[in-house]
Amino acid sequence: MATSKKVLVLGGGGREHALCWHLKQSGSEVFAAPGSAAIANLVPCFSFKNFDDLISQIQKNKIEEVIVGPEKYLAEGVADALTQKNISVFGPTQKAAELESDKSFAKEFCIRHKIPTAGSKILTSKDDLKIEIRKFKPPYVVKASGLAAGKGVWIGESHVDAIAFAEEVLKTHSSVVVEEFLDGEEISYFILVDGEHFSYLGSAQDHKRLLENDMGPNTGGMGAYSPIPILKDSLRAKIEKEIVLPILEGLKKDNIHYRGFLFIGLMVVNDHPYVLEFNCRMGDPETQSLMMRLESPLIDLIENLHNGKPEKAKTKNGVALNVVVAARGYPDQPLQDFNLFDLEKIPPAGIEIFHSGTQWNGKNWVAKGGRLFSVCALRPSLFECQSLIYPYIESLPFLKDVTYRKDIGVKAYKHLRAFP
Ligand code: AMP
Ligand code: GLY
Repeated sequence: MATSKKVLVLGGGGREHALCWHLKQSGSEVFAAPGSAAIANLVPCFSFKNFDDLISQIQKNKIEEVIVGPEKYLAEGVADALTQKNISVFGPTQKAAELESDKSFAKEFCIRHKIPTAGSKILTSKDDLKIEIRKFKPPYVVKASGLAAGKGVWIGESHVDAIAFAEEVLKTHSSVVVEEFLDGEEISYFILVDGEHFSYLGSAQDHKRLLENDMGPNTGGMGAYSPIPILKDSLRAKIEKEIVLPILEGLKKDNIHYRGFLFIGLMVVNDHPYVLEFNCRMGDPETQSLMMRLESPLIDLIENLHNGKPEKAKTKNGVALNVVVAARGYPDQPLQDFNLFDLEKIPPAGIEIFHSGTQWNGKNWVAKGGRLFSVCALRPSLFECQSLIYPYIESLPFLKDVTYRKDIGVKAYKHLRAFP
């Protein structure tokens, strides 16, 4: 059982639902702000008008640690505001959060500290775009420098379209990053960082595209599994040596004090890891799978790390899988306000449901968002997870109004031995 602490989770999505679930199970007294109707079934929630209001409620409730969920609050400087009031916060400062919120900054950070990443060019003028983009080979990868609500990356074969996307980006962002396409396996790699120390929390593989076989538009993520068969100890050691340690050194050299989650988006090409992006927060839906597996109380990992005693997170045996159920029309125009009949009923044993975009109308859960909820399980194998999760989803009476991928986890099979 964890050190019992009063912990506040900021946010109200599926990631925060899973964090609250884990923290509560591991013995903390948990609050959420603003939380959600689903989170309020688990822990007390309060809303806040601004950071001053948040601070006064934190003080009133004698919260000892604040764990920040979404990047939005970090980019707005919540960690700076709380730290100024001597409130302990697990989430980086606004400056440090630029690793996520400014892709040009992240790219320059990697180059400066010799961290492997795709070759790239940062462009700020419309005239340069036409010349520079053509110097890359298709498929072209074009990224907005700032936060773009999941619409900041374009990948495609046509240089004309690549230039058009980059021109659009420059209307609202100061720069655009064009980079080499890396063809490999993506890994979401999570560490906890506190100054010079880090603890490895775990990894998961997300499914970013809407449709089976990685087709269709990019989304926030349609499902995730953990652990990842390709992430053998040897690859993890390589990631630690070539990426994690240089990041910590780089932060130190650049005088950036970082405290919080660091989500390193990696592409593994022929067993070599490259950084695709940094996020200063946990991933959604990766967190749901990681929390299903996490055995070490998160709050202990955070506290021990703070006291200079980093430890690798212990995990439960088995595989965690989650499948995101989104409203039909997601990501462009998700259908809204329909009833999610029966979602309030207790699911079969072994299933956990984490809500992202739902509201409670007093009688039913109602769809209020793109990604609605995820259905998670921890079982001895991926196949057993799928055999539990998919029949449950298929039994729900609102299937015509939702969309979900039927192949979450299938990509892992090619790396697992089919026969003993
Ligand atoms: P990002 O927001 O930078 O992680 O990009 C979103 C998604 O685009 C990633 O999760 C990858 O699937 C894909 N992506 C980004 N950069 C590259 C790249 N250089 N090569 C191939 N795919 C990429
Ligand atoms: N699942 C990817 C993310 O949270 O950005």
